[in-house]
Amino acid sequence: MNISSEFSKHALEYGSYNIIQNIVIEKLLLHVESKPKKILDIGCGSGALLSAIDWDYEFFCGVDFAKGMLELHPKSPKIELLYTDFNKDELFDNMLTCSFDFVFSASALQWADDLERIFSKIKGLKAPIALAIFTAGTFKSINETASISSILKSANEIKELQEKYFDANFEVQNYKLEFESTRDIFKYIKKSGVSGSRKVLNYKESKKLLRDYPLNYLEFEVAFIYTSKR
Ligand SMILES: C[S@@+](CC[C@H](N)C(=O)[O-])C[C@H]1O[C@@H](n2cnc3c(N)ncnc32)[C@H](O)[C@@H]1O
Repeated sequence: MNISSEFSKHALEYGSYNIIQNIVIEKLLLHVESKPKKILDIGCGSGALLSAIDWDYEFFCGVDFAKGMLELHPKSPKIELLYTDFNKDELFDNMLTCSFDFVFSASALQWADDLERIFSKIKGLKAPIALAIFTAGTFKSINETASISSILKSANEIKELQEKYFDANFEVQNYKLEFESTRDIFKYIKKSGVSGSRKVLNYKESKKLLRDYPLNYLEFEVAFIYTSKR
């Protein structure tokens, strides 16, 4: 199963498993003062960012490769939804014909095949940005308990790329989400769409992890990259 189908599969239940993603969106929006009119949202999902926007915009373009998510996204004549993979160069080449006055991406670019290439493409759009990217610090203790290394980039790796491509602020935030039981923790990972689906544990190893995980919370680490308020 690839990442896209995991997000789709859980799209309907996504509303109750997106606590951290909603906190991330709230924080991203704090860095936007300009009330942009033409907005691009890369990895828009079911529209949480759009739903949190409280100003009048002219045009909103959301990009996502999970059909199930796009089906849940709010629709209107001002909203264009592109069902496509943000790893494709054609997407950004086509975007050059639109002129966006803000580019958002919330909790999605950790799945970029090549983050550096996407950063260079976003830079080419010449618009202010607010990006939130989950880092390797996410699920840190689970990964340590299972002796696996994260498939995500570290905060430092993301920072290096940010410095190369954007004159922007860089901030790392850590979040903890508490659960009643270890079983609930694993259910959350499966359903939140944060884990991706590159399975590294077999059934027996997963059982062992369920038994050995010492915490009653999950850790999330998110890198925020945002253009300074003017
Ligand atoms: C954790 S969800 C976040 C959704 C939304 N931005 C939010 O904050 O609620 C990540 C989204 O990125 C999308 N995504 C992941 N990889 C993608 C890719 N290569 N191309 C397009 N969308 C992608 C997924 O389908 C999913 O909707």
